[in-house]
Amino acid sequence: MPGFAFYGWVSAISLGILVLPYLLVRLNKYVLKTKNPNYFKAIKWLRTLHKPLGIVFTVVALIHGIMVLGAFRLHTGWLLYISVVLTALTGGAFYRFKKKPIFMWHKFFTLASVILFLLHFFRPYAI
Ligand code: HEM
Ligand code: HEM
Repeated sequence: MPGFAFYGWVSAISLGILVLPYLLVRLNKYVLKTKNPNYFKAIKWLRTLHKPLGIVFTVVALIHGIMVLGAFRLHTGWLLYISVVLTALTGGAFYRFKKKPIFMWHKFFTLASVILFLLHFFRPYAI
């Protein structure tokens, strides 16, 4: 059975793929300015992965966290995980109710998760 580092990396890569469509759209808008249909096809394909991958991410990150620390305690990893769960919940709620404020929260918690990931990665024992 793979160790905690494997699950940690699968989590980190999942987070990367989940935010990639957002980044690619803006990269194109401000820098690339391409009209290549394959570029948009790739973004569309990444979006089809979004919901299942968000759910897989939430499970894999939990396995990673429990493998390393066993149980909940105050730690950068658990703070990050709380933010990830809120991101997934607001994503699911937006999908269900299609309300703009919920989508804002989804993006807000995504940003919080990215920042907390950087803290967790570079200073795992900061708190
Ligand atoms: C569920 C709560 C979590 C806990 C308790 C936790 C705990 C830990 C701990 C203790 C380490 C080892 C730090 C060290 O000694 O170097 C670690 C490493 C790591 N964590 Fe987490 N973590 C959690 C969630 C996450 C999440 C959500 C992600 C990704 C988005 C993540 C990604 C990583 C990565 C990439 C590493 C480095 C693995 C390596 O050593 O190669 N963790 N985590
Ligand atoms: C937990 C990790 C997740 C992250 C980091 C994340 C991140 C994002 C980001 C950055 C966007 C903005 C896309 C844009 O404005 O172009 C977005 C959109 C969206 N997310 Fe998530 N998300 C996650 C999980 C989920 C889950 C679990 C669901 C639903 C079950 C979901 C549903 C949606 C929907 C419906 C949209 C808008 C439509 C679209 O752009 O595809 N997300 N997400």
